[in-house]
Amino acid sequence: MTEKTALVTGCSSGIGRATAEAFREEEWTVYATARDGDDLSALAEVGCETAALDVTDDEAVTAVVDRVVDDSDRIDCLVNNAGYGQFGPVEDVPTERVRDQFDTNVYGPHRLARAVLPHMRDRGRGTIVNVSSAAGRFATPAKGVYAGSKFALEAMTDALRAEIADYGVDIVVVAPGPVNTEFEDRAADELAGLDRSGAYETFYDLDRRRRGFVRPVRTLPRRAGRQPRRVRPLSAGRRP
Ligand SMILES: NC(=O)c1ccc[n+]([C@@H]2O[C@H](COP(=O)([O-])OP(=O)(O)OC[C@H]3O[C@@H](n4cnc5c(N)ncnc54)[C@H](OP(=O)(O)O)[C@@H]3O)[C@@H](O)[C@H]2O)c1
Repeated sequence: MTEKTALVTGCSSGIGRATAEAFREEEWTVYATARDGDDLSALAEVGCETAALDVTDDEAVTAVVDRVVDDSDRIDCLVNNAGYGQFGPVEDVPTERVRDQFDTNVYGPHRLARAVLPHMRDRGRGTIVNVSSAAGRFATPAKGVYAGSKFALEAMTDALRAEIADYGVDIVVVAPGPVNTEFEDRAADELAGLDRSGAYETFYDLDRRRRGFVRPVRTLPRRAGRQPRRVRPLSAGRRP
């Protein structure tokens, strides 16, 4: 097999799904992964290989990377895209949820990087793309936990870049601003599940009004037969 091979996490929707499609359009062999394999049927139809992968699961990470290397004998690019936003004022977020946030957004990419790097170093080539966020550059109220995870991701990325440079392997950060994906809905769900102290209502309100400043991302429907989510307009009427 001569096609270059990419492994992408978090392909059930949004940026991960669009990334898998883009690699496929460039005729890469693409391993598109998501927690629920049923969410990948549309990507399978356009020629992606698919696999269920929860990035918090050590054994699943090892199994998927082994499969890619066994099938393709190479792994040219890993895109650590899977992630979500645990929003909420820092005091209102239980430590367990902070741990969950880091398990997905920081330890997940770390697990994947550790699994692919031996193969990339052996071949003397490869690129890891870590999807961070503008929130990985500056932290704002009600986003401290999410920002903390992305700051951590970027710090480890910077250190790792220097460590692997002599092996011909590179690691880069992508730091998107707002993009209209399922991210905001998941973040709203996480926020709704918090036990509010009552001390920070201003910041909850700010977060609610902030929603809507988002740009569309073009993707296939989430599942075969399911319509893509309607793009929210950048309407002046939604401004706070
Ligand atoms: N949208 C934005 O405005 C924005 C801005 C800056 C950065 N980002 C970053 O971009 C990345 C992609 O987000 P998105 O905007 O495309 O949101 P999205 O549509 O919600 O997609 C997030 C993806 O991550 C997956 N995921 C979550 N937890 C996972 C886990 N434990 N294991 C495997 N997959 C998991 C989700 O899968 P499930 O379907 O299984 O939940 C989904 O496929 C994230 O890292 C996010 O922090 C997004």
